[in-house]
Amino acid sequence: MRHRPIALAGALAAAFALAAPAAAFTPGAPGAGDPYYPFAGNGGYDVSHYDLDLTFDRTPNTLVGDAEIEARATQDLSRFNLDLRPFMVVSRVEVDGSRATFTREGEHELVITPRKGIRRGKKFEVEVQYAGTPEPVVDPDHSIEGWVPTHDGAFVVNEPQGSPGWYPVNDSPKDKATFDFEVDVPAGIEVIANGVLEGRKTKRGRTTWEWEERDPMAPYLATATNGEFETRFGRTLGGLLEYNAVDPTTRRSLDPASTPEPALAWERIESAQPNALRLFSELYGPYPFDAIGAIVDYAPNVFYSLESQGKANYWRVPPESTIVHEVAHQWFGNAVTLEQWPDIWLNEGFATWSEWIYDERTAGVTAQSVFEELYNGWEAGSYLDVPPGDVGGPENLFAGTVYDRGAMTLQALRVKIGDAAFFRTLRTWYARYRYGNATTADFVEVAEGASGQQLDQFFQIWIYTPGKPAQGSW
Ligand code: TRP
Ligand code: ZN
Repeated sequence: MRHRPIALAGALAAAFALAAPAAAFTPGAPGAGDPYYPFAGNGGYDVSHYDLDLTFDRTPNTLVGDAEIEARATQDLSRFNLDLRPFMVVSRVEVDGSRATFTREGEHELVITPRKGIRRGKKFEVEVQYAGTPEPVVDPDHSIEGWVPTHDGAFVVNEPQGSPGWYPVNDSPKDKATFDFEVDVPAGIEVIANGVLEGRKTKRGRTTWEWEERDPMAPYLATATNGEFETRFGRTLGGLLEYNAVDPTTRRSLDPASTPEPALAWERIESAQPNALRLFSELYGPYPFDAIGAIVDYAPNVFYSLESQGKANYWRVPPESTIVHEVAHQWFGNAVTLEQWPDIWLNEGFATWSEWIYDERTAGVTAQSVFEELYNGWEAGSYLDVPPGDVGGPENLFAGTVYDRGAMTLQALRVKIGDAAFFRTLRTWYARYRYGNATTADFVEVAEGASGQQLDQFFQIWIYTPGKPAQGSW
């Protein structure tokens, strides 16, 4: 009577013992769970390195890619996703040298099933071969990004979701990695990617450009802008590698019939960039990357510039304030990167306040006077009513309040805790989180530590509460 249930229990236990290891291998999540872009990025692994071999021709517009991705599993993985838009057609995927099966799902999921599961903690390498006609990715705010064709090449910018338009990627700002680029284009075309130029070889009418980014980089900061450029490569007075490139047809005006002004672009880049580099190195801490530069293209349909890591992309001749802004992003945005897109004020508020302090230090226009002008002109119904930490959705990611009220928050903090504690806050923020990611809560903690003050109420009012903060309330 007794041995039957025992025998049954024993059989069940044996069955589970056999089934458990296989059942524990599960698919990685299809998204990293960002509140604004839930399917951007993926679960189950961390990328450490991308090796991107690209061949590009503007006419006809074709991009051929071979991407090798080094990653480590963070769970026992039965399958996993990369992000790649469907207009990039995949011909072959290998995992650790063995052919893997794959399917395409959703807006940008490349679902890869390796021959065998990958154990948690194990390093693995994925190779993806693909080709297609790159199309710009359209954002919820109707702006375009990704591999954006220009008259002579492509303007390559990805914030927040353009990367899967040109390379297979774990497209989360949290998964930073190093990058190698090898881009093959017709001779006479320049390719400017992140990091240090490692080689440039011309053979039979084609040039291969090799660039290497050795510091961790969020995927949205990758670039490989190309076309006809005048280049000036060298070193700054401080000895940092400097790569500047200006499209000889770049203009201030959107009208393609207007006069090109490359000389104006050079003049502005060569004055504002070193000045901003010097000031911010002194204020925030040493410049974070191996190289600095500017890529001034002419992409009149893009309407924004981007702080791509180590080399900002400018869509037309920029005003000096934009150059200062993009240089500041190298500290705030690129070295210290948000974890989630709703924290975008940590990028834009800081870069905008950096423009203010630049003007304060170089032209004597105080940051406080800019704050007061905005505060005094702030009437009911203003764009500033929207709290910069809660803009409501991805369609408002780059709303004006993120820039202006974000910067006002820093200036109000500066007045509240005093210059010494405030600059200590910014330096500690950079020193503690550079090459990594952080949140608004992390910033509050740093500011509280540097000032010895309780600041929850202050940030609640400035970052999260709709409407104009009442004088004396913070
Ligand atoms: N981060 C850019 C800046 O320097 C702005 C930006 C990136 C943007 N992508 C965008 C603006 C899309 C509007 C739409 O401020
Ligand atoms: Zn910015």
